[in-house]
Amino acid sequence: MSEIHLQIDGRDVVAKEGTSILEAARNAGIAIPTLCHHEKLEPYGACRICTVEVEAGGRKNLVASCVYPVEQNLVVRTRSESVDEIRKMILELLLAHAPGAPALQDLAREYGASEASFEKEPSFCILCGLCVRYCAEVKKANAIAFADQGPRREINFIPKIASKECWNFKECFPLCPTSYLQAAYFLTEGLAFPPAPAPEE
Ligand code: SF4
Ligand code: FES
Repeated sequence: MSEIHLQIDGRDVVAKEGTSILEAARNAGIAIPTLCHHEKLEPYGACRICTVEVEAGGRKNLVASCVYPVEQNLVVRTRSESVDEIRKMILELLLAHAPGAPALQDLAREYGASEASFEKEPSFCILCGLCVRYCAEVKKANAIAFADQGPRREINFIPKIASKECWNFKECFPLCPTSYLQAAYFLTEGLAFPPAPAPEE
């Protein structure tokens, strides 16, 4: 695999061919925010908060760094006026769906995003897919799935599988940027299957 030489935030960086810009930046100690990325999962490219500016052959573009592979002599800027502006807008849209979510609030402070910019449509799930993908790709359990399309899209636990698989796992809970996952699980548990038996003394 050949070595790719690029520049990130003015620093010369060397990365293996096929590496994403996000990975190359993180390996070089340069932080890029993410909401739908997890190192154990296939890149997903859903939230776009990892957007960076890339320049090649005199042309500038905004790309999602978690799915964009490094290129020879690429110039990457992880912060610029347009990068910060797009991250601010993404956060404002996400905050309309998940107002008060701590992971979003921290980023909102950094990028000056306001919760009041868009009309609130609280669904509390930002459809990052971390829970669905972690359950499928890492746990191989498929106890959670997306349902519906478009604005009605949501995640659902599949009670038949969740009642068998989720007692011991719940590894996905800390991955959720909004805590909606925990609420969805306990709702499913309450409605569709009885609580786990208390451990014997
Ligand atoms: S429940 Fe949480 S982890 Fe799952 S898709 Fe929604 S926001 Fe992401
Ligand atoms: S982290 Fe790259 S699109 Fe979500």
